[in-house]
Amino acid sequence: MGANMTQQSQTSVLITGANKGLGLEAARRLGALGWKVFLGSRDEARGRDAVAKLHADGADAVLVPLDVTSDESVAAAFALVREHTATLDVLINNAGAPGHFVAPELATADELHGVYDTNVYGPVRVTHAFLPLLQAAANPRVIMVSSGGGSFAVITDPTQPVASMHELAYSSSKAALNMITVRYAQALPGIKFNVVTPGEVANRKFAATDMNGHRGQLTVTEGTDPFIALATAGPDGPTATFTDRLGPVAWLSVQNESRGEHSLPAAFPYGCQLTLAASSSPVSESSRSISSNSSSAANQALAALDRSSRSAAVGKDPHTTSIAAALTKNGASSGNVAK
Ligand SMILES: NC(=O)c1ccc[n+]([C@@H]2O[C@H](COP(=O)([O-])OP(=O)(O)OC[C@H]3O[C@@H](n4cnc5c(N)ncnc54)[C@H](OP(=O)(O)O)[C@@H]3O)[C@@H](O)[C@H]2O)c1
Repeated sequence: MGANMTQQSQTSVLITGANKGLGLEAARRLGALGWKVFLGSRDEARGRDAVAKLHADGADAVLVPLDVTSDESVAAAFALVREHTATLDVLINNAGAPGHFVAPELATADELHGVYDTNVYGPVRVTHAFLPLLQAAANPRVIMVSSGGGSFAVITDPTQPVASMHELAYSSSKAALNMITVRYAQALPGIKFNVVTPGEVANRKFAATDMNGHRGQLTVTEGTDPFIALATAGPDGPTATFTDRLGPVAWLSVQNESRGEHSLPAAFPYGCQLTLAASSSPVSESSRSISSNSSSAANQALAALDRSSRSAAVGKDPHTTSIAAALTKNGASSGNVAK
């Protein structure tokens, strides 16, 4: 065991992709609560800079070199964390890759593979490796950072600009992550597994980070509200939920038109209270409800797909510029895209 062993009473968290953006902000917020933060970063130099920022704020943070696409890196990360602690209270699978937003008719399996390696296999690699430490904790929680784009309800809602952003990899990877989370939750009731999205789906807002060329309308603090709510949830906290900072996000557009029913929960599903900053565009309850006509919604989305131009990666950073280009081409430069 290392000299810097976690105190028995100290809550611990491992966050992947925490050298910047939402991951770093979650690290900052949980570090400010006195938690021991294992800060995952695939690039050691960037990770060192991030840890230095947390240390300057007085946080107890440890750099964990961690590339979620590498079994060897994940194994080394486990060994390092294990030197500090015998239990891990919270795992936040935050690292994510947007892909290149290649038009569906041009996308290859290789194109999808790179995105899935980070967004789907990555969380499975890390979760699988860290299960022994999680299972040794009293109230373990795993938070999967997904996207509104992983929701069938959002993707088939033509009022959501993401419905007309043409790509296969990112949204399907997040949909797969959603399913994987529920399957973990069902199989492992001793661990709380929940999905979050950093945006405000109903208000078509997302958080400004490098991933979207800082075009988001929310701060990273607002974006990480659901991370913090679920990370700090007690033993009676939820499992198998999908939330943003406003409450539940619909997984899919389940409707039975003959009975006029839809599946959206009416109430925020769990006891732990989200502290919401004032929203400039308050969510309307009606905007949370799911379209009563899914086939017409899907048809409108398809029509929007025809109208929208295909995005292409341009510029220095193909990930950022292609997302930024897609946002602009879909009329979302002033905001209102649930990503
Ligand atoms: N911003 C939003 O509103 C929004 C909306 C929906 C979902 N999300 C999700 O939120 C999560 C965080 O994204 P962000 O907006 O904070 O973007 P970001 O600032 O670009 O951060 C992404 C992080 O993931 C890391 N990463 C990428 N591939 C990795 C790998 N193979 N191994 C380890 N780390 C890796 C990046 O590391 P490097 O610095 O080394 O590249 C970076 O630290 C992602 O899962 C994203 O899909 C964000």
